[in-house]
Amino acid sequence: MKALVLSGGKGTRLRPLTFTTAKQLIPIANKPILGYVLDHISQAGIKDAGVIIAPETGKDVKGYVKDGSAWNIKVNYIVQEPLGLAHAVKTARSFLGEDDFIMYLGDNLIGKGINTLLERFWNEKLDNLILLKEVENPTRFGIVVLDSQGNVAKLVEKPKTPPSNLALVGVYIFSNKIHQAIKRIKTSWRGELEITDAIQEMINQGFKVKAEKLDTWWLDTGKKDDILVANAKLLDEYIKRETKGEIHESKVEGRVTVRENARIVNSTVRGPCIIGENCLIKNSFIGPYTSVGNEAHVIDSSVEYSVILENALIRGVERLEESLIGRNAKILKNQKHKTLKLNIGDFSEVEI
Ligand code: DAU
Repeated sequence: MKALVLSGGKGTRLRPLTFTTAKQLIPIANKPILGYVLDHISQAGIKDAGVIIAPETGKDVKGYVKDGSAWNIKVNYIVQEPLGLAHAVKTARSFLGEDDFIMYLGDNLIGKGINTLLERFWNEKLDNLILLKEVENPTRFGIVVLDSQGNVAKLVEKPKTPPSNLALVGVYIFSNKIHQAIKRIKTSWRGELEITDAIQEMINQGFKVKAEKLDTWWLDTGKKDDILVANAKLLDEYIKRETKGEIHESKVEGRVTVRENARIVNSTVRGPCIIGENCLIKNSFIGPYTSVGNEAHVIDSSVEYSVILENALIRGVERLEESLIGRNAKILKNQKHKTLKLNIGDFSEVEI
C-alpha cells in the first residue's frame, strides 16, 4: 500500500492567505494541515508516499515535509500542473506502479485515522473505497447517490442541482484498476480530469466500489469559518497543559500549550489554546479556541476563537473574535484619532 498526497492545486478560495503559502500549509492549532494528513498515513504504517506539488507552491511544501523522515515515511515529490485529481493520479503513474494506494487530499482533515478503512478495503478485496459525509452545501463537492442497498449508484462533481447531500470526502483507497478507468475518461466542463468521473467509470466497468459514511467530523478547509471550526476541534482534541515559555503576573487557565520562549505578561489566557514560540502576550486576554502562531505579538488586546498566524501584531484591539489573521499582518488601534486607517491586501475582508 502506497499513499498519494495531493498538495498541488491553485488554492484560490482561501485568498488572500494562499497568495503567500500553499493551502495545505495553513496552520491549524499551529500545525500545517498537511502535517495531520502525514500523521494519519504514518499511523497506518504506510512507508512510501508520493506528494503531488504544483510548480508555484511546491518549494514551500518541500520545505515543510522535507524527506518525510519526521513521519517515518519515504517521500517522492511529483510535480503536476493542476489539471484535476485524476490527472494527479495519472501523473503519479510510475510512482504508483501496480500497488494499491490511498489518495489523501492535502487540504482535508478527518477526525480519525485511516486504519479501519484500509482493513475494510483489504478484507472485502475492493477496487475502491470512498468516504461520504452529509453536507449542507452539496454544490461545493463531489456528490454520491446510493441505491436502496447502500451501493454507489452515481457520482457527480459539483452539481448545480445536487441529487443528494452525500459529499465525497477527500480520502480514497484504490486498487490498480483506477488507471484503466482514468484512461477512459475525458476532461470535464471545468477543464479538469475528475476523479469522480473515473470512479463512475469503475462502477460502469463492474469493479468493486464501496462507500462508507464517515462517523467523525470532516473539514474541507475551504474558507475562513472552516479553518476556525477545524482549529477549535483540534485544540479540543489535542492540546495539553504544557508550559515551555515564561509566565509573569498572569493567569493561565485550563489546557494551554505555551511554546518555547513565548512570554505571557500581565495577561489572562484561557484554554484550550496554543501560544507559539517567541510570542509576546502582554496586557491582554486570550480566550478559548485561539491559536497564536510563532513570533506573533498580542498587546493591550482581547482575542477569542481566532487563528493568528506567524509574526502578526495585534495592539490596542478591545475585542477580536472569530478572526483569521494572516502572516505578518498588523491590526493596530490608533488611540488618538477615531478614524480607521487601513492598508488591506487584495481579496481581504474586514468587518467593522
Ligand atoms: O474536499 C473534498 C472535495 O475535493 C471532493 O468532494 C470533490 O469531489 C473533489 O473534486 C475535491 O474538490 P475541490 O474543489 O475541493 O478540490 P481542490 O481543487 O480544492 O483540490 C483538492 C486538493 O488536491 C488540494 O489539496 C489541491 C490538490 N490538487 C488539486 C487539483 C485540482 C492537486 O494536487 N492537483 C490538482 O490538479
